[in-house]
Amino acid sequence: MIDAVQALCSSNELREAGDAVGFDVAYAGQTCRAFAVRFDGQPYAYLNRCTHVAMELDWQPNRVFDPTGQWLVCASHGAEYRPDTGECAGGPCRGGLVKVQLSEDHGVVSWHPAYNLQPLVF
Ligand code: FES
Repeated sequence: MIDAVQALCSSNELREAGDAVGFDVAYAGQTCRAFAVRFDGQPYAYLNRCTHVAMELDWQPNRVFDPTGQWLVCASHGAEYRPDTGECAGGPCRGGLVKVQLSEDHGVVSWHPAYNLQPLVF
């Protein structure tokens, strides 16, 4: 199968622990919001859906990092997730975020719609 990639944004748009870039993905037969961030120099993306209650994480539009820039935090009840794996790191989360496959090449961050989005189990 050909792994089609879809350009998401320029590399410059994803700043270290900065604002997320949102996009839509197909998940479980629905269109869902996802977000991409940069952490430790690498781009990562997840479904924008907390595992506590299926709500988007943002505490302000596109702000998903806590003030330290070390954790992704849900605005509703404070669940914390590791930015590099999506693993639950504290708070009321139930498992990890659903990861979206990204790649970065020649200053462009792309995502891979053909990858099945699977909840992470830790
Ligand atoms: S909805 Fe995210 S912590 Fe409750």
